[in-house]
Amino acid sequence: MRNVTQDNLTDTFLGYFGDDTNPRLREIMESLARHLHDFARETKLTHAEWNQGLDILREAGRITTPQRDEFVLLSDVLGLSSLVDMINSSEAGTNSSVLGPFHISNAPAFPMGTDLRGDYEGELILVQGKVCDTDGNPIGGATLDIWQTAPNGLYSSQDPEQDEYSFHALFTTEANGLYRFTTVRPVSYTVPTDGPVGKLLNATGRHPWRPSHLHYIVKAEGFQPLVTEVFPDDDPYLDQDTVFGVRDDLVMTYKPQKAADFPSEGLALSGKVDADFSRVDFDIILSSEK
Ligand code: BEZ
Ligand code: FE
Repeated sequence: MRNVTQDNLTDTFLGYFGDDTNPRLREIMESLARHLHDFARETKLTHAEWNQGLDILREAGRITTPQRDEFVLLSDVLGLSSLVDMINSSEAGTNSSVLGPFHISNAPAFPMGTDLRGDYEGELILVQGKVCDTDGNPIGGATLDIWQTAPNGLYSSQDPEQDEYSFHALFTTEANGLYRFTTVRPVSYTVPTDGPVGKLLNATGRHPWRPSHLHYIVKAEGFQPLVTEVFPDDDPYLDQDTVFGVRDDLVMTYKPQKAADFPSEGLALSGKVDADFSRVDFDIILSSEK
């Protein structure tokens, strides 16, 4: 095209693809170009505004390290991570939710009933449930990779005061599919705000808070892996999670219990609990592999 105009630029772009372009790549790039070009036309984007957008990406590149990925955070606060999650989540099983940037690999394996709270202050919670298939049959040999913040709202990778794997654990279910462990009640916390994403949230009048949650990655042979989270139903940020991770089936009541009702066996803390605690019952349904 010799005379490229606002009106024919998108078609001109599409005409530049080589014949042997991978069909899926072509589909994605065509759609991306249409939406990007329409976005610029619709908003009558100025050079200064476009440069401000590029500044966000430049700063994200500068601040990103193997431990801290600002591009993932940008995708999270734009709602794109959650949208991709929902598009690819199985309709039959438990809903998936955002992975976030704070999962670390190779969490230590613990027996069922382990206590993750250790010496930390805060309300004790007993978390338990069953991993089952879409017909309700228990799944044995399922692994649950669990992680959460300490009571100061920081993950171990953000906090030099914590051990590398504090509040991270891997459990494997027996044939009955049951799991249980104790920990400290997680707190609401803010996503990192010291980079360009923080500036963007601030400029658009948005807060950086997430409702408190426990993260899970659940895997079992023959089933689709599930990345999800569980939220308490009384968290003040439940209806305004800045990364759009909340789904109805992931919201649980933390049921208050008397110290005397703590199970007398089967938990590391059995016989040692003298304060009231809360119980969280969260069953997980895995969908079969496609
Ligand atoms: C998290 O839940 O760990 C998280 C998710 C998205 C962005 C930041 C943190
Ligand atoms: Fe989190």
